[in-house]
Amino acid sequence: MSNPALLPLPGDILKASDAIAMIPEVNLGPPIEIPLIPPEADSGNISDEERRWLNEEINRLAEERNVLILAHNYTPKDVQKRARFVGDSLHLMKMGRQSTARVLVEASVLFMNEILAIMKQPGQIVLTPSLKALCSLAAHADVNKVREWKHAHPTGKVISYVNTYLDVKAESYICCASANVARIITHVAEKYPDSPLLFLPDVFLGYYAVNLLKKMGRSTDNLWLMMGACHVHEQITAHHVMRQMALHPDAAVYAHMECGCVSKCLSLLDRGLLTEERLKLASTWGATEFAKKTPHKKIIVATTVTNIYPMSVAAPDKEFIPANPEARCAFMEQHTLRNLYESLRDVKYEVTVDPELAERARKPIERMLSIQ
Ligand code: 13P
Ligand code: SF4
Repeated sequence: MSNPALLPLPGDILKASDAIAMIPEVNLGPPIEIPLIPPEADSGNISDEERRWLNEEINRLAEERNVLILAHNYTPKDVQKRARFVGDSLHLMKMGRQSTARVLVEASVLFMNEILAIMKQPGQIVLTPSLKALCSLAAHADVNKVREWKHAHPTGKVISYVNTYLDVKAESYICCASANVARIITHVAEKYPDSPLLFLPDVFLGYYAVNLLKKMGRSTDNLWLMMGACHVHEQITAHHVMRQMALHPDAAVYAHMECGCVSKCLSLLDRGLLTEERLKLASTWGATEFAKKTPHKKIIVATTVTNIYPMSVAAPDKEFIPANPEARCAFMEQHTLRNLYESLRDVKYEVTVDPELAERARKPIERMLSIQ
């Protein structure tokens, strides 16, 4: 296409084959402002004395106020150390949902906090230490485009990645997380073989879904994808991974399926050039499991550099090499020991959801959780 006006825009919905062909043509950069990472997100920028005091106060307040602290794998190391559970989006959802603590403080991003706010027990409250913890990928999902697609495809089924806000979830048949994407896509494709399917909002994860359906021998003619991406993972390219593989020929590779390198990784696996024992595509939780299990002593990590911390806790004897050392999620790194302490001290910032929207968004989440 030579006329830029004809090029698809971020958030547009295309047939899967067109969407994949259009990846290099669409500006998949962040549709929202990326906040600055606070200096104290780096452990070295906070004194030992202050850290000790904050750690003690956080532990004391958590005990006194019956608070469960949850942290995503991408949050700063100091924050992860204070959490009862550290994990991927699905794990945090499950741990929060089964907790009886009075307060759930979740250092993650808004779409994960919203899920907890929907699933929480009556009387519980959900807090986030920072209101700046949003998500560039979730911001790509335009609910009006989803409604238009549904209108044009009345028998269609919308599969929403959890990295979406409640308005989009409310329009969806089912949700999926990176930890269960294969199971959910397979389930929907088998249950509704003749229905159009829309997978959103991540086009790279969509590529992964296409590959999966093809391997199942299914046509992907009726699969649609949204032109969305995470601004951090989009910048982890095949070039980054191949370069590190050339520098470390004995290393294994872990890559998140949101990465720009997903097609290269899948092609290396499909052509038998690497086995799954050597190259693992998985959620951030899957990354720590892989770090524990792989016999390789070096692992190239294609996701945010902060994910190396939980991997190194799980496998302290291994060496981790970031595929792209610049890959940091500024949203996740808004949470610091200081604002975690303030969150517990002042009981802020409470995450609330519109009850009507929450009820509609609950259904695709529950449907996902019911599929084992
Ligand atoms: P996980 O579910 O693998 O933790 O992924 C969430 C996410 O936002 C990755 O960018
Ligand atoms: Fe969103 Fe990307 Fe950050 Fe994950 S890494 S929370 S997808 S902005």
